[in-house]
Amino acid sequence: MREPSKRSRIAPFHVMEVMKRASERERSHGDVLHLEVGQPSTPAPALVREAAEALLHQHRLGYTDALGVMELRRAIAEHYAGAGRSVDPEQVVVTVGASGGFVLTLLAAFDAGGRVGITEPGYAAYRNIIQSLDLELVGLPVGPASRWVATREIVRAAGPLDGLVVASPSNPTGTSLTAREMRELIDVCETDDIRLVSDEIYHGISYVGPTPSAIDFTSDALVVQSFSKYFSMTGWRLGWLVVPPGLVDTLERLAQNLFISPPTLAQLAAVHAFDAVGELDDNVARYRESREMLVDACRRWGLETAPPDGAFYLWVDVGPLGLTASDVSHEWLSVCGVAVTPGIDFDPERGEGFVRLSFSEAPTDIEEAIGRLDRWMTSRD
Ligand SMILES: Cc1ncc(COP(=O)(O)O)c(C=O)c1O
Repeated sequence: MREPSKRSRIAPFHVMEVMKRASERERSHGDVLHLEVGQPSTPAPALVREAAEALLHQHRLGYTDALGVMELRRAIAEHYAGAGRSVDPEQVVVTVGASGGFVLTLLAAFDAGGRVGITEPGYAAYRNIIQSLDLELVGLPVGPASRWVATREIVRAAGPLDGLVVASPSNPTGTSLTAREMRELIDVCETDDIRLVSDEIYHGISYVGPTPSAIDFTSDALVVQSFSKYFSMTGWRLGWLVVPPGLVDTLERLAQNLFISPPTLAQLAAVHAFDAVGELDDNVARYRESREMLVDACRRWGLETAPPDGAFYLWVDVGPLGLTASDVSHEWLSVCGVAVTPGIDFDPERGEGFVRLSFSEAPTDIEEAIGRLDRWMTSRD
């Protein structure tokens, strides 16, 4: 019997284990509060759902161009224009979520064996995709000393790199790069000939003003974006890339062969997402409310967090509790019915010292979770 490929030997997603235990608890107690989830608790905007309903009846919904329908590529370019950024629709590549966009990006930009740096903590699936494509994963440890973001020194300490992936705002830390920090990374990439991949999937969910985009500073980076987070459309599996003009043909050939085209219904309906800003900003207002409650609670519990500039996560140092993150996650679920993600998914080295709390569920759920954890904290005094 032949063995599975070596490159497919990637780490499991530990949060899936938490989700399994959360479902068991839900069946036995019916009381689980979900602070482990990584997606909005809201559906797609009403305008998108209405458009999709009509399209189901009116449209053949066959394949589209591999790069996506021009109507959507134009709407995405206009979305950037609205923020004062100039993007040609020809540079926009519509993808099967940011996940599909990331696979295309890595294949288009790097050869097998290329050294690609990614911050630790960082988004687990990216680390695993890099490895499964036979690229060399280079972890860049970030922590409180650099405000949890990569710096010139951290990049250079990793040795020669072919690529650098940064997410701002980040999953799991929620920390965003300031314009100065982004500029510094772009400078080091230009000087050291490193291709920058800027994951901007949490743009729009910011608590500290607009998040700088790589587009503001360079036309050499590949920007990864998605309808999953701000636009609240995770299951529609739709994202996009903004790429240097010289890479469009390469990406088109890859996209044609790997995916044929992104989902047609999602593409045509997503054109209307940009008209739903009011509804989407209301979602962000709810995240802001929950974030404030959780930040206050962590302060009260004596637990430090990374600066939650954006996204809907708090990266919490559980050291003072004297338990590993896996134990904390186990205990909070079994005693309090509160599900959270242990940090090992995001940082294989130091992740047992941290949990990720998501505040994408309703503020009333977050408030209830805080009340239960308050009681747990008091019971330990
Ligand atoms: C930082 C980051 N990038 C990419 C993704 C993938 O998103 P999607 O494929 O749904 O667009 C996620 C999902 O949680 C994420 O947190």
